[in-house]
Amino acid sequence: MSEVAKLELDGTVYEFPVITGSENEKAIDISKLRGNSGYITIDPGFKNTGSCVSEITFLDGEQGILRYRGYSIEDLANKASFLEVCYLLIFGELPNKSELAKFEATIRKYTLVNEEMKDIIDGFPKNAHPMGILSSLTSALTAFNPKPLNVESDEQVYEAVCKTLAKFLVLSSWVHRKREGFPLNYYDNSKGYVENFLRMMFAIPTEEYKADPVIVDALDKLLILHADHEQNCSTSTVRVVGSSHAGLFASISAGVSALWGPLHGGANQAVIEMLEAIKADGGDVEKFIAKAKDKDDPFRLMGFGHRVYKNFDPRAKIIKKAADDVLNSLGVNDPVLDIAKTLEKAALEDEYFKARNLYPNVDFYSGIIYRALGIPTEMFTVMFAIGRLPGWIAQWLEMRKNGEPIGRPRQVYTGSNLRDFKDIASR
Ligand code: CMC
Repeated sequence: MSEVAKLELDGTVYEFPVITGSENEKAIDISKLRGNSGYITIDPGFKNTGSCVSEITFLDGEQGILRYRGYSIEDLANKASFLEVCYLLIFGELPNKSELAKFEATIRKYTLVNEEMKDIIDGFPKNAHPMGILSSLTSALTAFNPKPLNVESDEQVYEAVCKTLAKFLVLSSWVHRKREGFPLNYYDNSKGYVENFLRMMFAIPTEEYKADPVIVDALDKLLILHADHEQNCSTSTVRVVGSSHAGLFASISAGVSALWGPLHGGANQAVIEMLEAIKADGGDVEKFIAKAKDKDDPFRLMGFGHRVYKNFDPRAKIIKKAADDVLNSLGVNDPVLDIAKTLEKAALEDEYFKARNLYPNVDFYSGIIYRALGIPTEMFTVMFAIGRLPGWIAQWLEMRKNGEPIGRPRQVYTGSNLRDFKDIASR
């Protein structure tokens, strides 16, 4: 007999099936709770609420495990490319050689963006935040691709996936170029996806641009590490918006807005801002470590600790090495990054941080890499969005293919009871 959970309300016992996931995660299926009992549950922030069943990503925060479609993040980051991981997340299996070649070719087919998009970018003030521009541009793609996507058609889905991966990358680089006042670059179909991004970001017409393979490799890894993280805020947003059958571009645009917030995608930016503040204060790392330990001081070391990973962040372990490689390869001379190295060492040796398992998280190292590459701090969250895009697409497709109902939570109303209306003269 399958496991059930029992709940007694007003003397009546209700039974609910228990669902067990493939990694033995347990959930009580309360989908019939309101219909049978009239009660609902309340769970602000959805900390105890599973919004869906999903086959895409497995995460165990206690043990520091992250897997996409059953493959460990360590294997994927060290042995696969970002586009292979995109394919895996979205279509469920790693591509073979010819599948990958077709995928890359189809993405290349869509890398030209309608020139009218440039007029839209021109309409933004120079100091507009990149994430606001990116969200608007992603939504604007709908205007150039108005035909609704039939999710039952494998062919249409494939083309839409490739189109989204292609245009989002180009637009992300254009957001940066426009802000810097540089001419907008086009994708070069003779180069790879990640190398192209670097080119579109940094190549100038007056010089030949050559991407450093160490940097291409580090960026590829970073994108893989950010590619999915199950039902986080932006991914849940993409699924909920898509559950009304809003289109893929509109749903992704909403995901970009959700990621923009400092509680979600903004932490890597906060790391650099903290390092700059330490430098501006004279560079005394020990002083800031003492502040972080002082319970009367609200200061926390940005880029340390994690809400879900309580022992270590598996992504941080991988990216620490890439960060070291990038700094060595570039031979960067940056006092802010010197402070990062001193801070990392001091915190890792400090009893307070050791006792609480507070290790540098992925944002600590990603911020360092982006800064070393010369990516402006305000663009950091855009980098996160490029990485998270395949996760958003995969989760959107899964939601639509599973025929999930429209996301429509309930509430407990605590406002006024029925009141007599007073006309304006007597108020
Ligand atoms: N600096 C100093 N002390 C800390 C820090 C920190 N960064 N993080 C946690 N602590 C202390 C905390 O005060 C508590 O101490 P005590 O047990 O003495 O009361 C203990 O460590 C346990 O922390 P917690 O309250 O269980 O941690 P939390 O789950 O509430 O918070 C966190 C997790 C990520 C919000 C927090 O570690 C933090 O604010 N970190 C800095 C911001 C940051 O880097 N955020 C990015 C996270 S990764 C984002 C992503 O993956 O999307």
